[in-house]
Amino acid sequence: MEPKKFFIETFGCQMNHHDSEKVAGTLTQMGYVPTEDASEADLLLLNTCNIREKANQKVFSRLGSLQKSYGTKPGAKVGLLGCMAQMEGPKIFEKAPNVDLVVGSSSYSFIPRLLEKLEQGAPHVIDVSQDVDRLFETYPQSRENPYKAFVTIMEGCNRYCAFCVVPYTRGPERSRSGEHVLSEIRRLASEGYPEVMLLGQTVNSWRDPAGAIPTFAELLKRIAAVPGIRRIRFTSPHPSDFHCEIVEVMETTPEVCNQVHLPVQSGSTEVLRRMKRDYTRDEYLRRVEFIKAAQREIALSTDIIVGFPGESQEDFEETLSLLEQVRYDQIFSFKYSARPGTEAFTFGDTIPEEEKSRRLAVLQEFQRKIQIERNASLVGREFEIFVEGKSQKDLNELMGRTTQNKIVNFAGSPELLGKFARVRVTNSFPNSLAGELI
Ligand code: 5AD
Repeated sequence: MEPKKFFIETFGCQMNHHDSEKVAGTLTQMGYVPTEDASEADLLLLNTCNIREKANQKVFSRLGSLQKSYGTKPGAKVGLLGCMAQMEGPKIFEKAPNVDLVVGSSSYSFIPRLLEKLEQGAPHVIDVSQDVDRLFETYPQSRENPYKAFVTIMEGCNRYCAFCVVPYTRGPERSRSGEHVLSEIRRLASEGYPEVMLLGQTVNSWRDPAGAIPTFAELLKRIAAVPGIRRIRFTSPHPSDFHCEIVEVMETTPEVCNQVHLPVQSGSTEVLRRMKRDYTRDEYLRRVEFIKAAQREIALSTDIIVGFPGESQEDFEETLSLLEQVRYDQIFSFKYSARPGTEAFTFGDTIPEEEKSRRLAVLQEFQRKIQIERNASLVGREFEIFVEGKSQKDLNELMGRTTQNKIVNFAGSPELLGKFARVRVTNSFPNSLAGELI
């Protein structure tokens, strides 16, 4: 008999992409084989995101298009996984009657059992329990990237920022034991992964539940000491738990990449207060100062929300002035989206859509100029890059990243894939660099 095939599409953050790797690993172990063609799949899964309204809508329209444009195999099952599934639960079966399976973000270990129930004839199956104890079971994993491995070190969030659904979709904060993390990383290193990306909703709030490793900074050091690991990145730290000890480790530990993604959300202390971000503009800037004062040159990126309820033109201008002051290497910016169940939902959605769009466009143009200048200043310099794949601009070229996470496209032989190389930067663009091998 031909093995059953599964198709999985992922929306949202890196944590979701990593969850899909765990689900794929589980299914593979059950004897399924992956396919990229939805029309031949026996099991179609969408791993969903709920962070903004638009992410939600995308999933429903994708469900429709999968059904229409591919038509599914007779008897094929459709499942929704992830944060939207967690948040909406059984309501999904009403909104999308073609869905057979709903699995929340803490219930992936139940997938084999749920599929069995479906096969036995259950009309539909669901698990959206948030049983914290089960979370860090080791899942079999099918990793998408041959060089860079995601490693969950903590999950969930207790911060309850006014705009954010994460505490509801991902549950309370809990950390995985240091020994567990290290043993996974030792295994990854022995399988040949030179780079690991540590994941957590507030990754630097990690605390060893076993008490063996005292801090997140110390965990970074221990991971760096694993033979074979050459690059460590982590995302996303919360500014309030971003202590100078982390920067000290970065200064002395070349394996920890020179890159910090430090979400600020707004440059206005008043907006930050209403967002419940737990820091003022000045407190955030003090962290930026010590990051910039480091011995190694650390690249900075951030997340920004425009149009939070009550954000005035002056508040918005404070965000622009913060960008001017910090001069980030990259930003991810979003229009505020009111999410049911969050505190800010009760504030009303006071900034009109057109005004949000205008602010977003102004912000992005402002940042684009900064990135053009910053990247231009790198022309002529030499960097070590890790060669990760083909260039997206020109498939005859290769693409690598510097420790600062800058993309460098260059001409080179495919034999360099998965290796480290040295390049000189020859040209710059807002989001990437061009280089030549030295
Ligand atoms: N509206 C818009 N953006 C949001 N984010 C989180 N919640 C919302 C929301 N309700 C953004 C934040 C966060 C990033 C992952 O998504 O900037 O850091």
